[in-house]
Amino acid sequence: MLAAIRSAAVLGIDAYDVTVEVDVANGLPQWFIVGLPANAVKESRERVSAALINAGFDVPSRRITVNLAPADIRKEGTAFDLPIALGVLVGTGVLKPEQVQQCLVVGELGLDASIRPVRGALSIARKLSSSGGAKGSVLILPAANVAEASLVRDVRLGAPSSLGELVGWLMRGTIPPPVIAPRVHADDDLLDLADVAGQEGAKRALAIAAAGSHGILLVGPPGAGKTMLARRLPAILPSLTDAEALEVTAVHSVAGMLDAASGSVIRRPFRAPHHSISTAGLVGGGSSPRPGEVSLAHHGVLFLDELLEFPRSVLEALRQPMEDGTVTIARASASLKFPARFALAAAMNPCPCGHSGSTLPCVCPAADVVKYRARLSGPLADRIDLHVYVPPVALSRLSARDTSARSVDVRANVERARLCQRERYKGDGTCNARAAGRWLETHGDLESGARALLTSAGERLHLSARAFHRVLRVARTISDLDGIRTISTAQIAEALGYRPRAADTSDGGSRRHE
Ligand SMILES: Nc1ncnc2c1ncn2[C@@H]1O[C@H](COP(=O)(O)OP(=O)(O)OP(=O)(O)O)[C@@H](O)[C@H]1O
Ligand SMILES: [Mg+2]
Repeated sequence: MLAAIRSAAVLGIDAYDVTVEVDVANGLPQWFIVGLPANAVKESRERVSAALINAGFDVPSRRITVNLAPADIRKEGTAFDLPIALGVLVGTGVLKPEQVQQCLVVGELGLDASIRPVRGALSIARKLSSSGGAKGSVLILPAANVAEASLVRDVRLGAPSSLGELVGWLMRGTIPPPVIAPRVHADDDLLDLADVAGQEGAKRALAIAAAGSHGILLVGPPGAGKTMLARRLPAILPSLTDAEALEVTAVHSVAGMLDAASGSVIRRPFRAPHHSISTAGLVGGGSSPRPGEVSLAHHGVLFLDELLEFPRSVLEALRQPMEDGTVTIARASASLKFPARFALAAAMNPCPCGHSGSTLPCVCPAADVVKYRARLSGPLADRIDLHVYVPPVALSRLSARDTSARSVDVRANVERARLCQRERYKGDGTCNARAAGRWLETHGDLESGARALLTSAGERLHLSARAFHRVLRVARTISDLDGIRTISTAQIAEALGYRPRAADTSDGGSRRHE
């Protein structure tokens, strides 16, 4: 007998419908799984057989053919275990087709017939809701995925703990709604900016970066506090909007990195991968493509400490996602996209000994300094809006009672600045760092004196059109942060101060590679 069970799978972060067809026919006892299954899917038959037996059902000694339709997309993962098991039960007459008709089923089976979590449950719930299929359907999924799927409010859920329980529900024709536990979010012990003595210039730049989602590069000698400063960024980042939180959660769900208790990401991500990371780890990829760090940092910050220790080829892979806000991964079977609107934060020493430009003498041979800096290409440096020199901190500052602003206060300002941007760019969810330069020129409330300063400084510094617009975006954020409606010469002058110094990059900063 032929059975058809509705299921779904994810490609990138989008879900698509899959129909699991199971045919139980007379013939030699054998299983066939067709429809471009990857290895984990082929192994389904072992898990499904053991789970069926351990749940007290017979595995028929007949020929079982499973087809995953559409057959032209490669199927990954373990989420088809549960629909295949239901298909076998319908195929052998244990369940009637109408008993499973309204269900869309995903779940991995344990050998003991328990149901284990899958990746991408939020995307599947969103797809069911957006395609209008939510009415009259029940999404059957593992209990550990309920918290994330319940973010989509109009989808009915069923979360059995085992195959046996699910079959009992289907036979009785009642699927009880799952208990949605109150979301538990671990209280993050965020580090306070006030712990850092002095470094007011760098703190100001961090606030600008957080407010406008600008990239920031901290350059300075060892022990000046660069890592310390950057690690305090999460405490001053603005809160996520509901729409942003849903997008971030979907990426983490597809990556299988969602905490089952909270089921959602509520803080802006702050990702800090080690410099030994591969290109695929950073931008995403692999034979069954997973989101990389740039996507896990979507709507948040990607922090690369010791920037020049990352291989140059890995760093160069950042250019496309930084420009587009998405990563495109091409595979023979399909090309898929992951979102990647992140702000880059990075820290580095100016030379191998770290003291170039500081009060201590630099001991590096000139050739070594050139080689060192060549690891950061001009085009990448030029995509970072804020270049900040972090000087050595005077020891007397360390013991002095600090009057520096605390993170909560800085964050309150940052939130206000973000609100201005939300109103300015209306519903399109952008921020100053991604605003169109031409648009800002005409709608950015640029005072005429400020425009004259920007133009003359731009000509003197040989700024490209791109660099010109970057200065304008940073100036816009400074005005927002300071609660000023227009951009005046003061904000333009401050923004110009964050341009890369010619010495910081291999090829002189902004002039080339436009
Ligand atoms: N401004 C500061 N205020 C208070 N403590 C500081 C400051 N700067 C450095 N420190 C102390 O020095 C330690 C090292 O600082 P940090 O790791 O941030 O330096 P860094 O600039 O990242 O150095 P490197 O270039 O070697 O990575 C900190 O953990 C902290 O104890
Ligand atoms: Mg450091």
